[in-house]
Amino acid sequence: MSDRGRMRALHSNVVQLTRRAGLERRRPPAVRNPYSALPDWVYPTLVVSVLSAFSLYAAWVVLFFPDGRYGPYLSPFTSPEIHATIAGLAVPTGIWIFWVPLAFRGTCYYYRKAIFRGFLGHPRSCAAGEPRRGVYRGETRLFVYNNLHRYAFYLTAVQVLILWYDAVAAFVAGGAPRFGLGCVLMLVNVVCLSAYTFGCHALRHLAGGGLDCVSCHRARHRIWRGVTVLNVRHGAWAWASMLTVWGVDLYIRLLITGVVPHGSWN
Ligand code: FES
Repeated sequence: MSDRGRMRALHSNVVQLTRRAGLERRRPPAVRNPYSALPDWVYPTLVVSVLSAFSLYAAWVVLFFPDGRYGPYLSPFTSPEIHATIAGLAVPTGIWIFWVPLAFRGTCYYYRKAIFRGFLGHPRSCAAGEPRRGVYRGETRLFVYNNLHRYAFYLTAVQVLILWYDAVAAFVAGGAPRFGLGCVLMLVNVVCLSAYTFGCHALRHLAGGGLDCVSCHRARHRIWRGVTVLNVRHGAWAWASMLTVWGVDLYIRLLITGVVPHGSWN
């Protein structure tokens, strides 16, 4: 090969290497989550699918299917039953209620993780690279509303107590003890909701925060330990309680519409 040919080959190699280096700089190296055996896309995809489906279902029920009572069974979407009108127009019961769990779950520390990973890919998974990395500004600007979580907790705690009342009332409807699948579902639902609500990080801080010596305050220390037990599986309770709310409501609506025939067992 002549000198000119060698120079051309060398030049084309340099150009190729430079281009490849440029591309690699633009594309961040794929990093796998070292804490999970599953591919990184599984969790975000699941979050987006289930949360989107639940949100659409909840919106449909609240706006277009306002009656959530079947005999002693009352849907969590319509409890407490509030019948009010504005300018002569009946407002669906769910409208008065839905914003409380929405505010609670929307500002929950677990759901924030799920939403950031699932809907924003920011980041997609633990230790995984991000396609575009913005400046982290903490709980400021749009996210300043997250600081309302403690107040949403107070309202949700009241709502959970009302759901306990509904569940017990279903077991003793008509003044006599009764047992049906609906009663059991309502009970399971309120147990899951209680485990989720009373495992809240904000409650844990209320119980044990702001003290130099938590164990010196026996009552607060006990509450803090109880909340901690629930808090360890907070994410699991978040999912379980959302699915039980969905399941109970669906079951009651299937009874209302006659898709599930009424029998002594249900
Ligand atoms: Fe999840 Fe409070 S942190 S409910």
